[in-house]
Amino acid sequence: MSFQHKHILGIEQLSSEDIQMILDTGDAFKEVNTRDIKKVPTLRGKTIINAFFEASTRTRLSFEIAGKRLSADTVNISGSTSSVVKGETLEDTAKNIEAMAPDIIVIRHGHSGSAHYLAERVDCSIINAGDGAHEHPSQALLDLMTIREHKGSIEGLEVAIVGDITHSRVVRSNIYALSKMGAKVRLCGPGTMLPIGIERLGNVEVFTDMRDAIQDADVVMMLRIQMERQSNIMLPSLREYARFYGLNPTNVQLAKPDAIVMHPGPINRGVEISSVVADGVQNVILDQVENGVAVRMALLYLVSGVESMQTK
Ligand code: CP
Repeated sequence: MSFQHKHILGIEQLSSEDIQMILDTGDAFKEVNTRDIKKVPTLRGKTIINAFFEASTRTRLSFEIAGKRLSADTVNISGSTSSVVKGETLEDTAKNIEAMAPDIIVIRHGHSGSAHYLAERVDCSIINAGDGAHEHPSQALLDLMTIREHKGSIEGLEVAIVGDITHSRVVRSNIYALSKMGAKVRLCGPGTMLPIGIERLGNVEVFTDMRDAIQDADVVMMLRIQMERQSNIMLPSLREYARFYGLNPTNVQLAKPDAIVMHPGPINRGVEISSVVADGVQNVILDQVENGVAVRMALLYLVSGVESMQTK
């Protein structure tokens, strides 16, 4: 079976077979990252533009590293240093980028739907690196790769996701991905951060009491409060939030003894997760970051249409 998608706009458009193929391809590329010479010729001659109109450490760096390890020419453009600050529209920016003949544009943008918008207007492949509060597909895929690595498989797992559900693109992509792969998703947050109808996106149960949500969970994924996307104050204080929705050495024991603790980053230590848990034996947070490079190599390779991985 070959990969049929020119773009990666969201997990919603992917089948379980597509997800399986991306994870298997990521596994195969992961070994390249352990070599002395971390480079294969897979995408030699291809040009990738990383257009990040919102802040990023992990996603931008790992897409750039992924492209370089596949021998592509990678170029970065950021919102603050582009002509967007002079009033250029996203469409005009994209058309101008396209005139330079890239093969893939990786885009992060604050507006939901921006990756779809571009995909309808340019000829090259588009990969969504996070669009507003909509989707962050590569994050969910690296999360699944990490879960599969630690748990052996995804099917049948109970995955608790706790935090600012309303503003999280990570949670939407994870609901689609985990549900398609047969896991059960428990969402938890204060009522003000739980959008009505979210359970309809997948195999989801909604909780407001964190203790119920993480009881006997196989995976506990903590989310940051997305202050940058909140127009109104949605909680009385960070201290109160930490008390009811923070993961700490006491409540983490409600999850299964072999549960793993995940976080997409950046972490707000002492708010959604205590330092003891963030650095504790159950955390797989840096494994997620490591797998981010491999899964993004897989995505770049699969959308490129290149026939051979050429990992030797
Ligand atoms: N997880 C994530 O998207 O991190 P960055 O914002 O640093 O890319």
